Amino acid sequence: MKIAIIGSGTMGSGIAQVAATAGCEVKIYDTNLDALAKSKSNLENTLSKLVEKTKIDEHEKFRIENNISYAHTLGELSHSDLVIEAILENLEVKRKLFSELENYVSPETILASNTSSLSIASIAASCQKPERVIGIHFFNPAPLMQLVEVIPAVQTSEKVLQKSVQTISDWKKVVAVAKDTPGFIVNRVARPFYSESLRIYEEGVADFATIDWALKTIGNFKMGPFELMDMIGHDVNYVVTETVFTAFYFDPKFKPSFTQKRLLEAGFLGRKSGRGFYDYNKELPKPIE
Ligand code: NAI
Repeated sequence: MKIAIIGSGTMGSGIAQVAATAGCEVKIYDTNLDALAKSKSNLENTLSKLVEKTKIDEHEKFRIENNISYAHTLGELSHSDLVIEAILENLEVKRKLFSELENYVSPETILASNTSSLSIASIAASCQKPERVIGIHFFNPAPLMQLVEVIPAVQTSEKVLQKSVQTISDWKKVVAVAKDTPGFIVNRVARPFYSESLRIYEEGVADFATIDWALKTIGNFKMGPFELMDMIGHDVNYVVTETVFTAFYFDPKFKPSFTQKRLLEAGFLGRKSGRGFYDYNKELPKPIE
C-alpha cells in the first residue's frame, strides 16, 4: 500500500514510522526542508536506539528506512492510496491543502487528517469528493501509542470508513471509531484535565512540578499534565483547547489558560524548543515533597 504523509513534524514522522514498519511504501512531504531533514535524522536515531536495545535488528532498520522516501512537491504524492495530513492545527490551512491535494491524487485516494480537534466535515467540504475524507487521529508518540481514533464526517462513505479501519488495524493499532465532534473522545476528556491543572497552578495551590509529581505518585499517571503539555507542544495543545472551547459555545470547563498562552507567545513550546514549563537544557526542577 502506498502512503503519503504531509507534515514531517512530531506526528507525521511517527505515523510514517508506523506505516513503514507495517510494510507500506511511505512518502513524507513538508513545505519546510529543514523539518524533512530533521525527520530523516530523527528516524535514523530512533531506529538505531531500537537496534541497541535489540528490539529490532540491522536488517529490520534497513527495511523500515528503505520504505520511506522524502518528497519536495505535492505532485510526488500522486500514486498514494492513502494520504495522512499532519500539518499545523489550523482549519483554513488544512482546507486549502486538501482542496489542492485533489488536483494531484487519483479519485480513489483516501484523504485523512490527523487533526486533534477540528471539524472533519469542514475539511471534507473543501474537497470535490468529500466522501473520501476522514479523520485518522494518532496519539503522541505514534509508534508507541496503541489507540487511533477514526472519525467519519457526515460526508464520509462507508467504504472509506471500512478501508481506513482495516488499514489502521493492519498497522497493529487499536481503532476507536468516534463521531465528528470537537476533540472526539480522548481530547474532549483531556481538555478539562489540562485546564484544571493550569488553574490549580495559577491559583498558587502548588507549583507545576509538585502537581506533576502528585499526579504521578498518588494518581498513578504515567506523566504529569505539565510534562505532557511540554511533550505535546504548547502551540498544538493551546490551539486544540481554544478550538474545543469555541466549538462548545464557550463552555467555561474548556477555557484556555493565559499562562499557557504566554508560553506560546514567548516561543517556549515545550520539549521541541528546549523550554516549556520545564527547561530541558537545565536540570529539571525538583518538586516540594
Ligand atoms: P509539528 O509542528 O511538529 O509539525 C507540523 C509540520 O507541518 C511542520 O514540520 C511544518 O513545517 C509542516 N507544515 C505546516 N504547514 C504545511 C503545509 N501547508 N504543507 C506541508 N507541511 C506543512 O506538529 P505536530 O505536533 O506533528 O501536529 C501535527 C498535527 O497533528 C496537528 O493537526 C495536531 O493537532 C495533530 N496532533 C498532534 C499531537 C501532538 O501530541 N503533538 C497528537 C495528535 C495529533
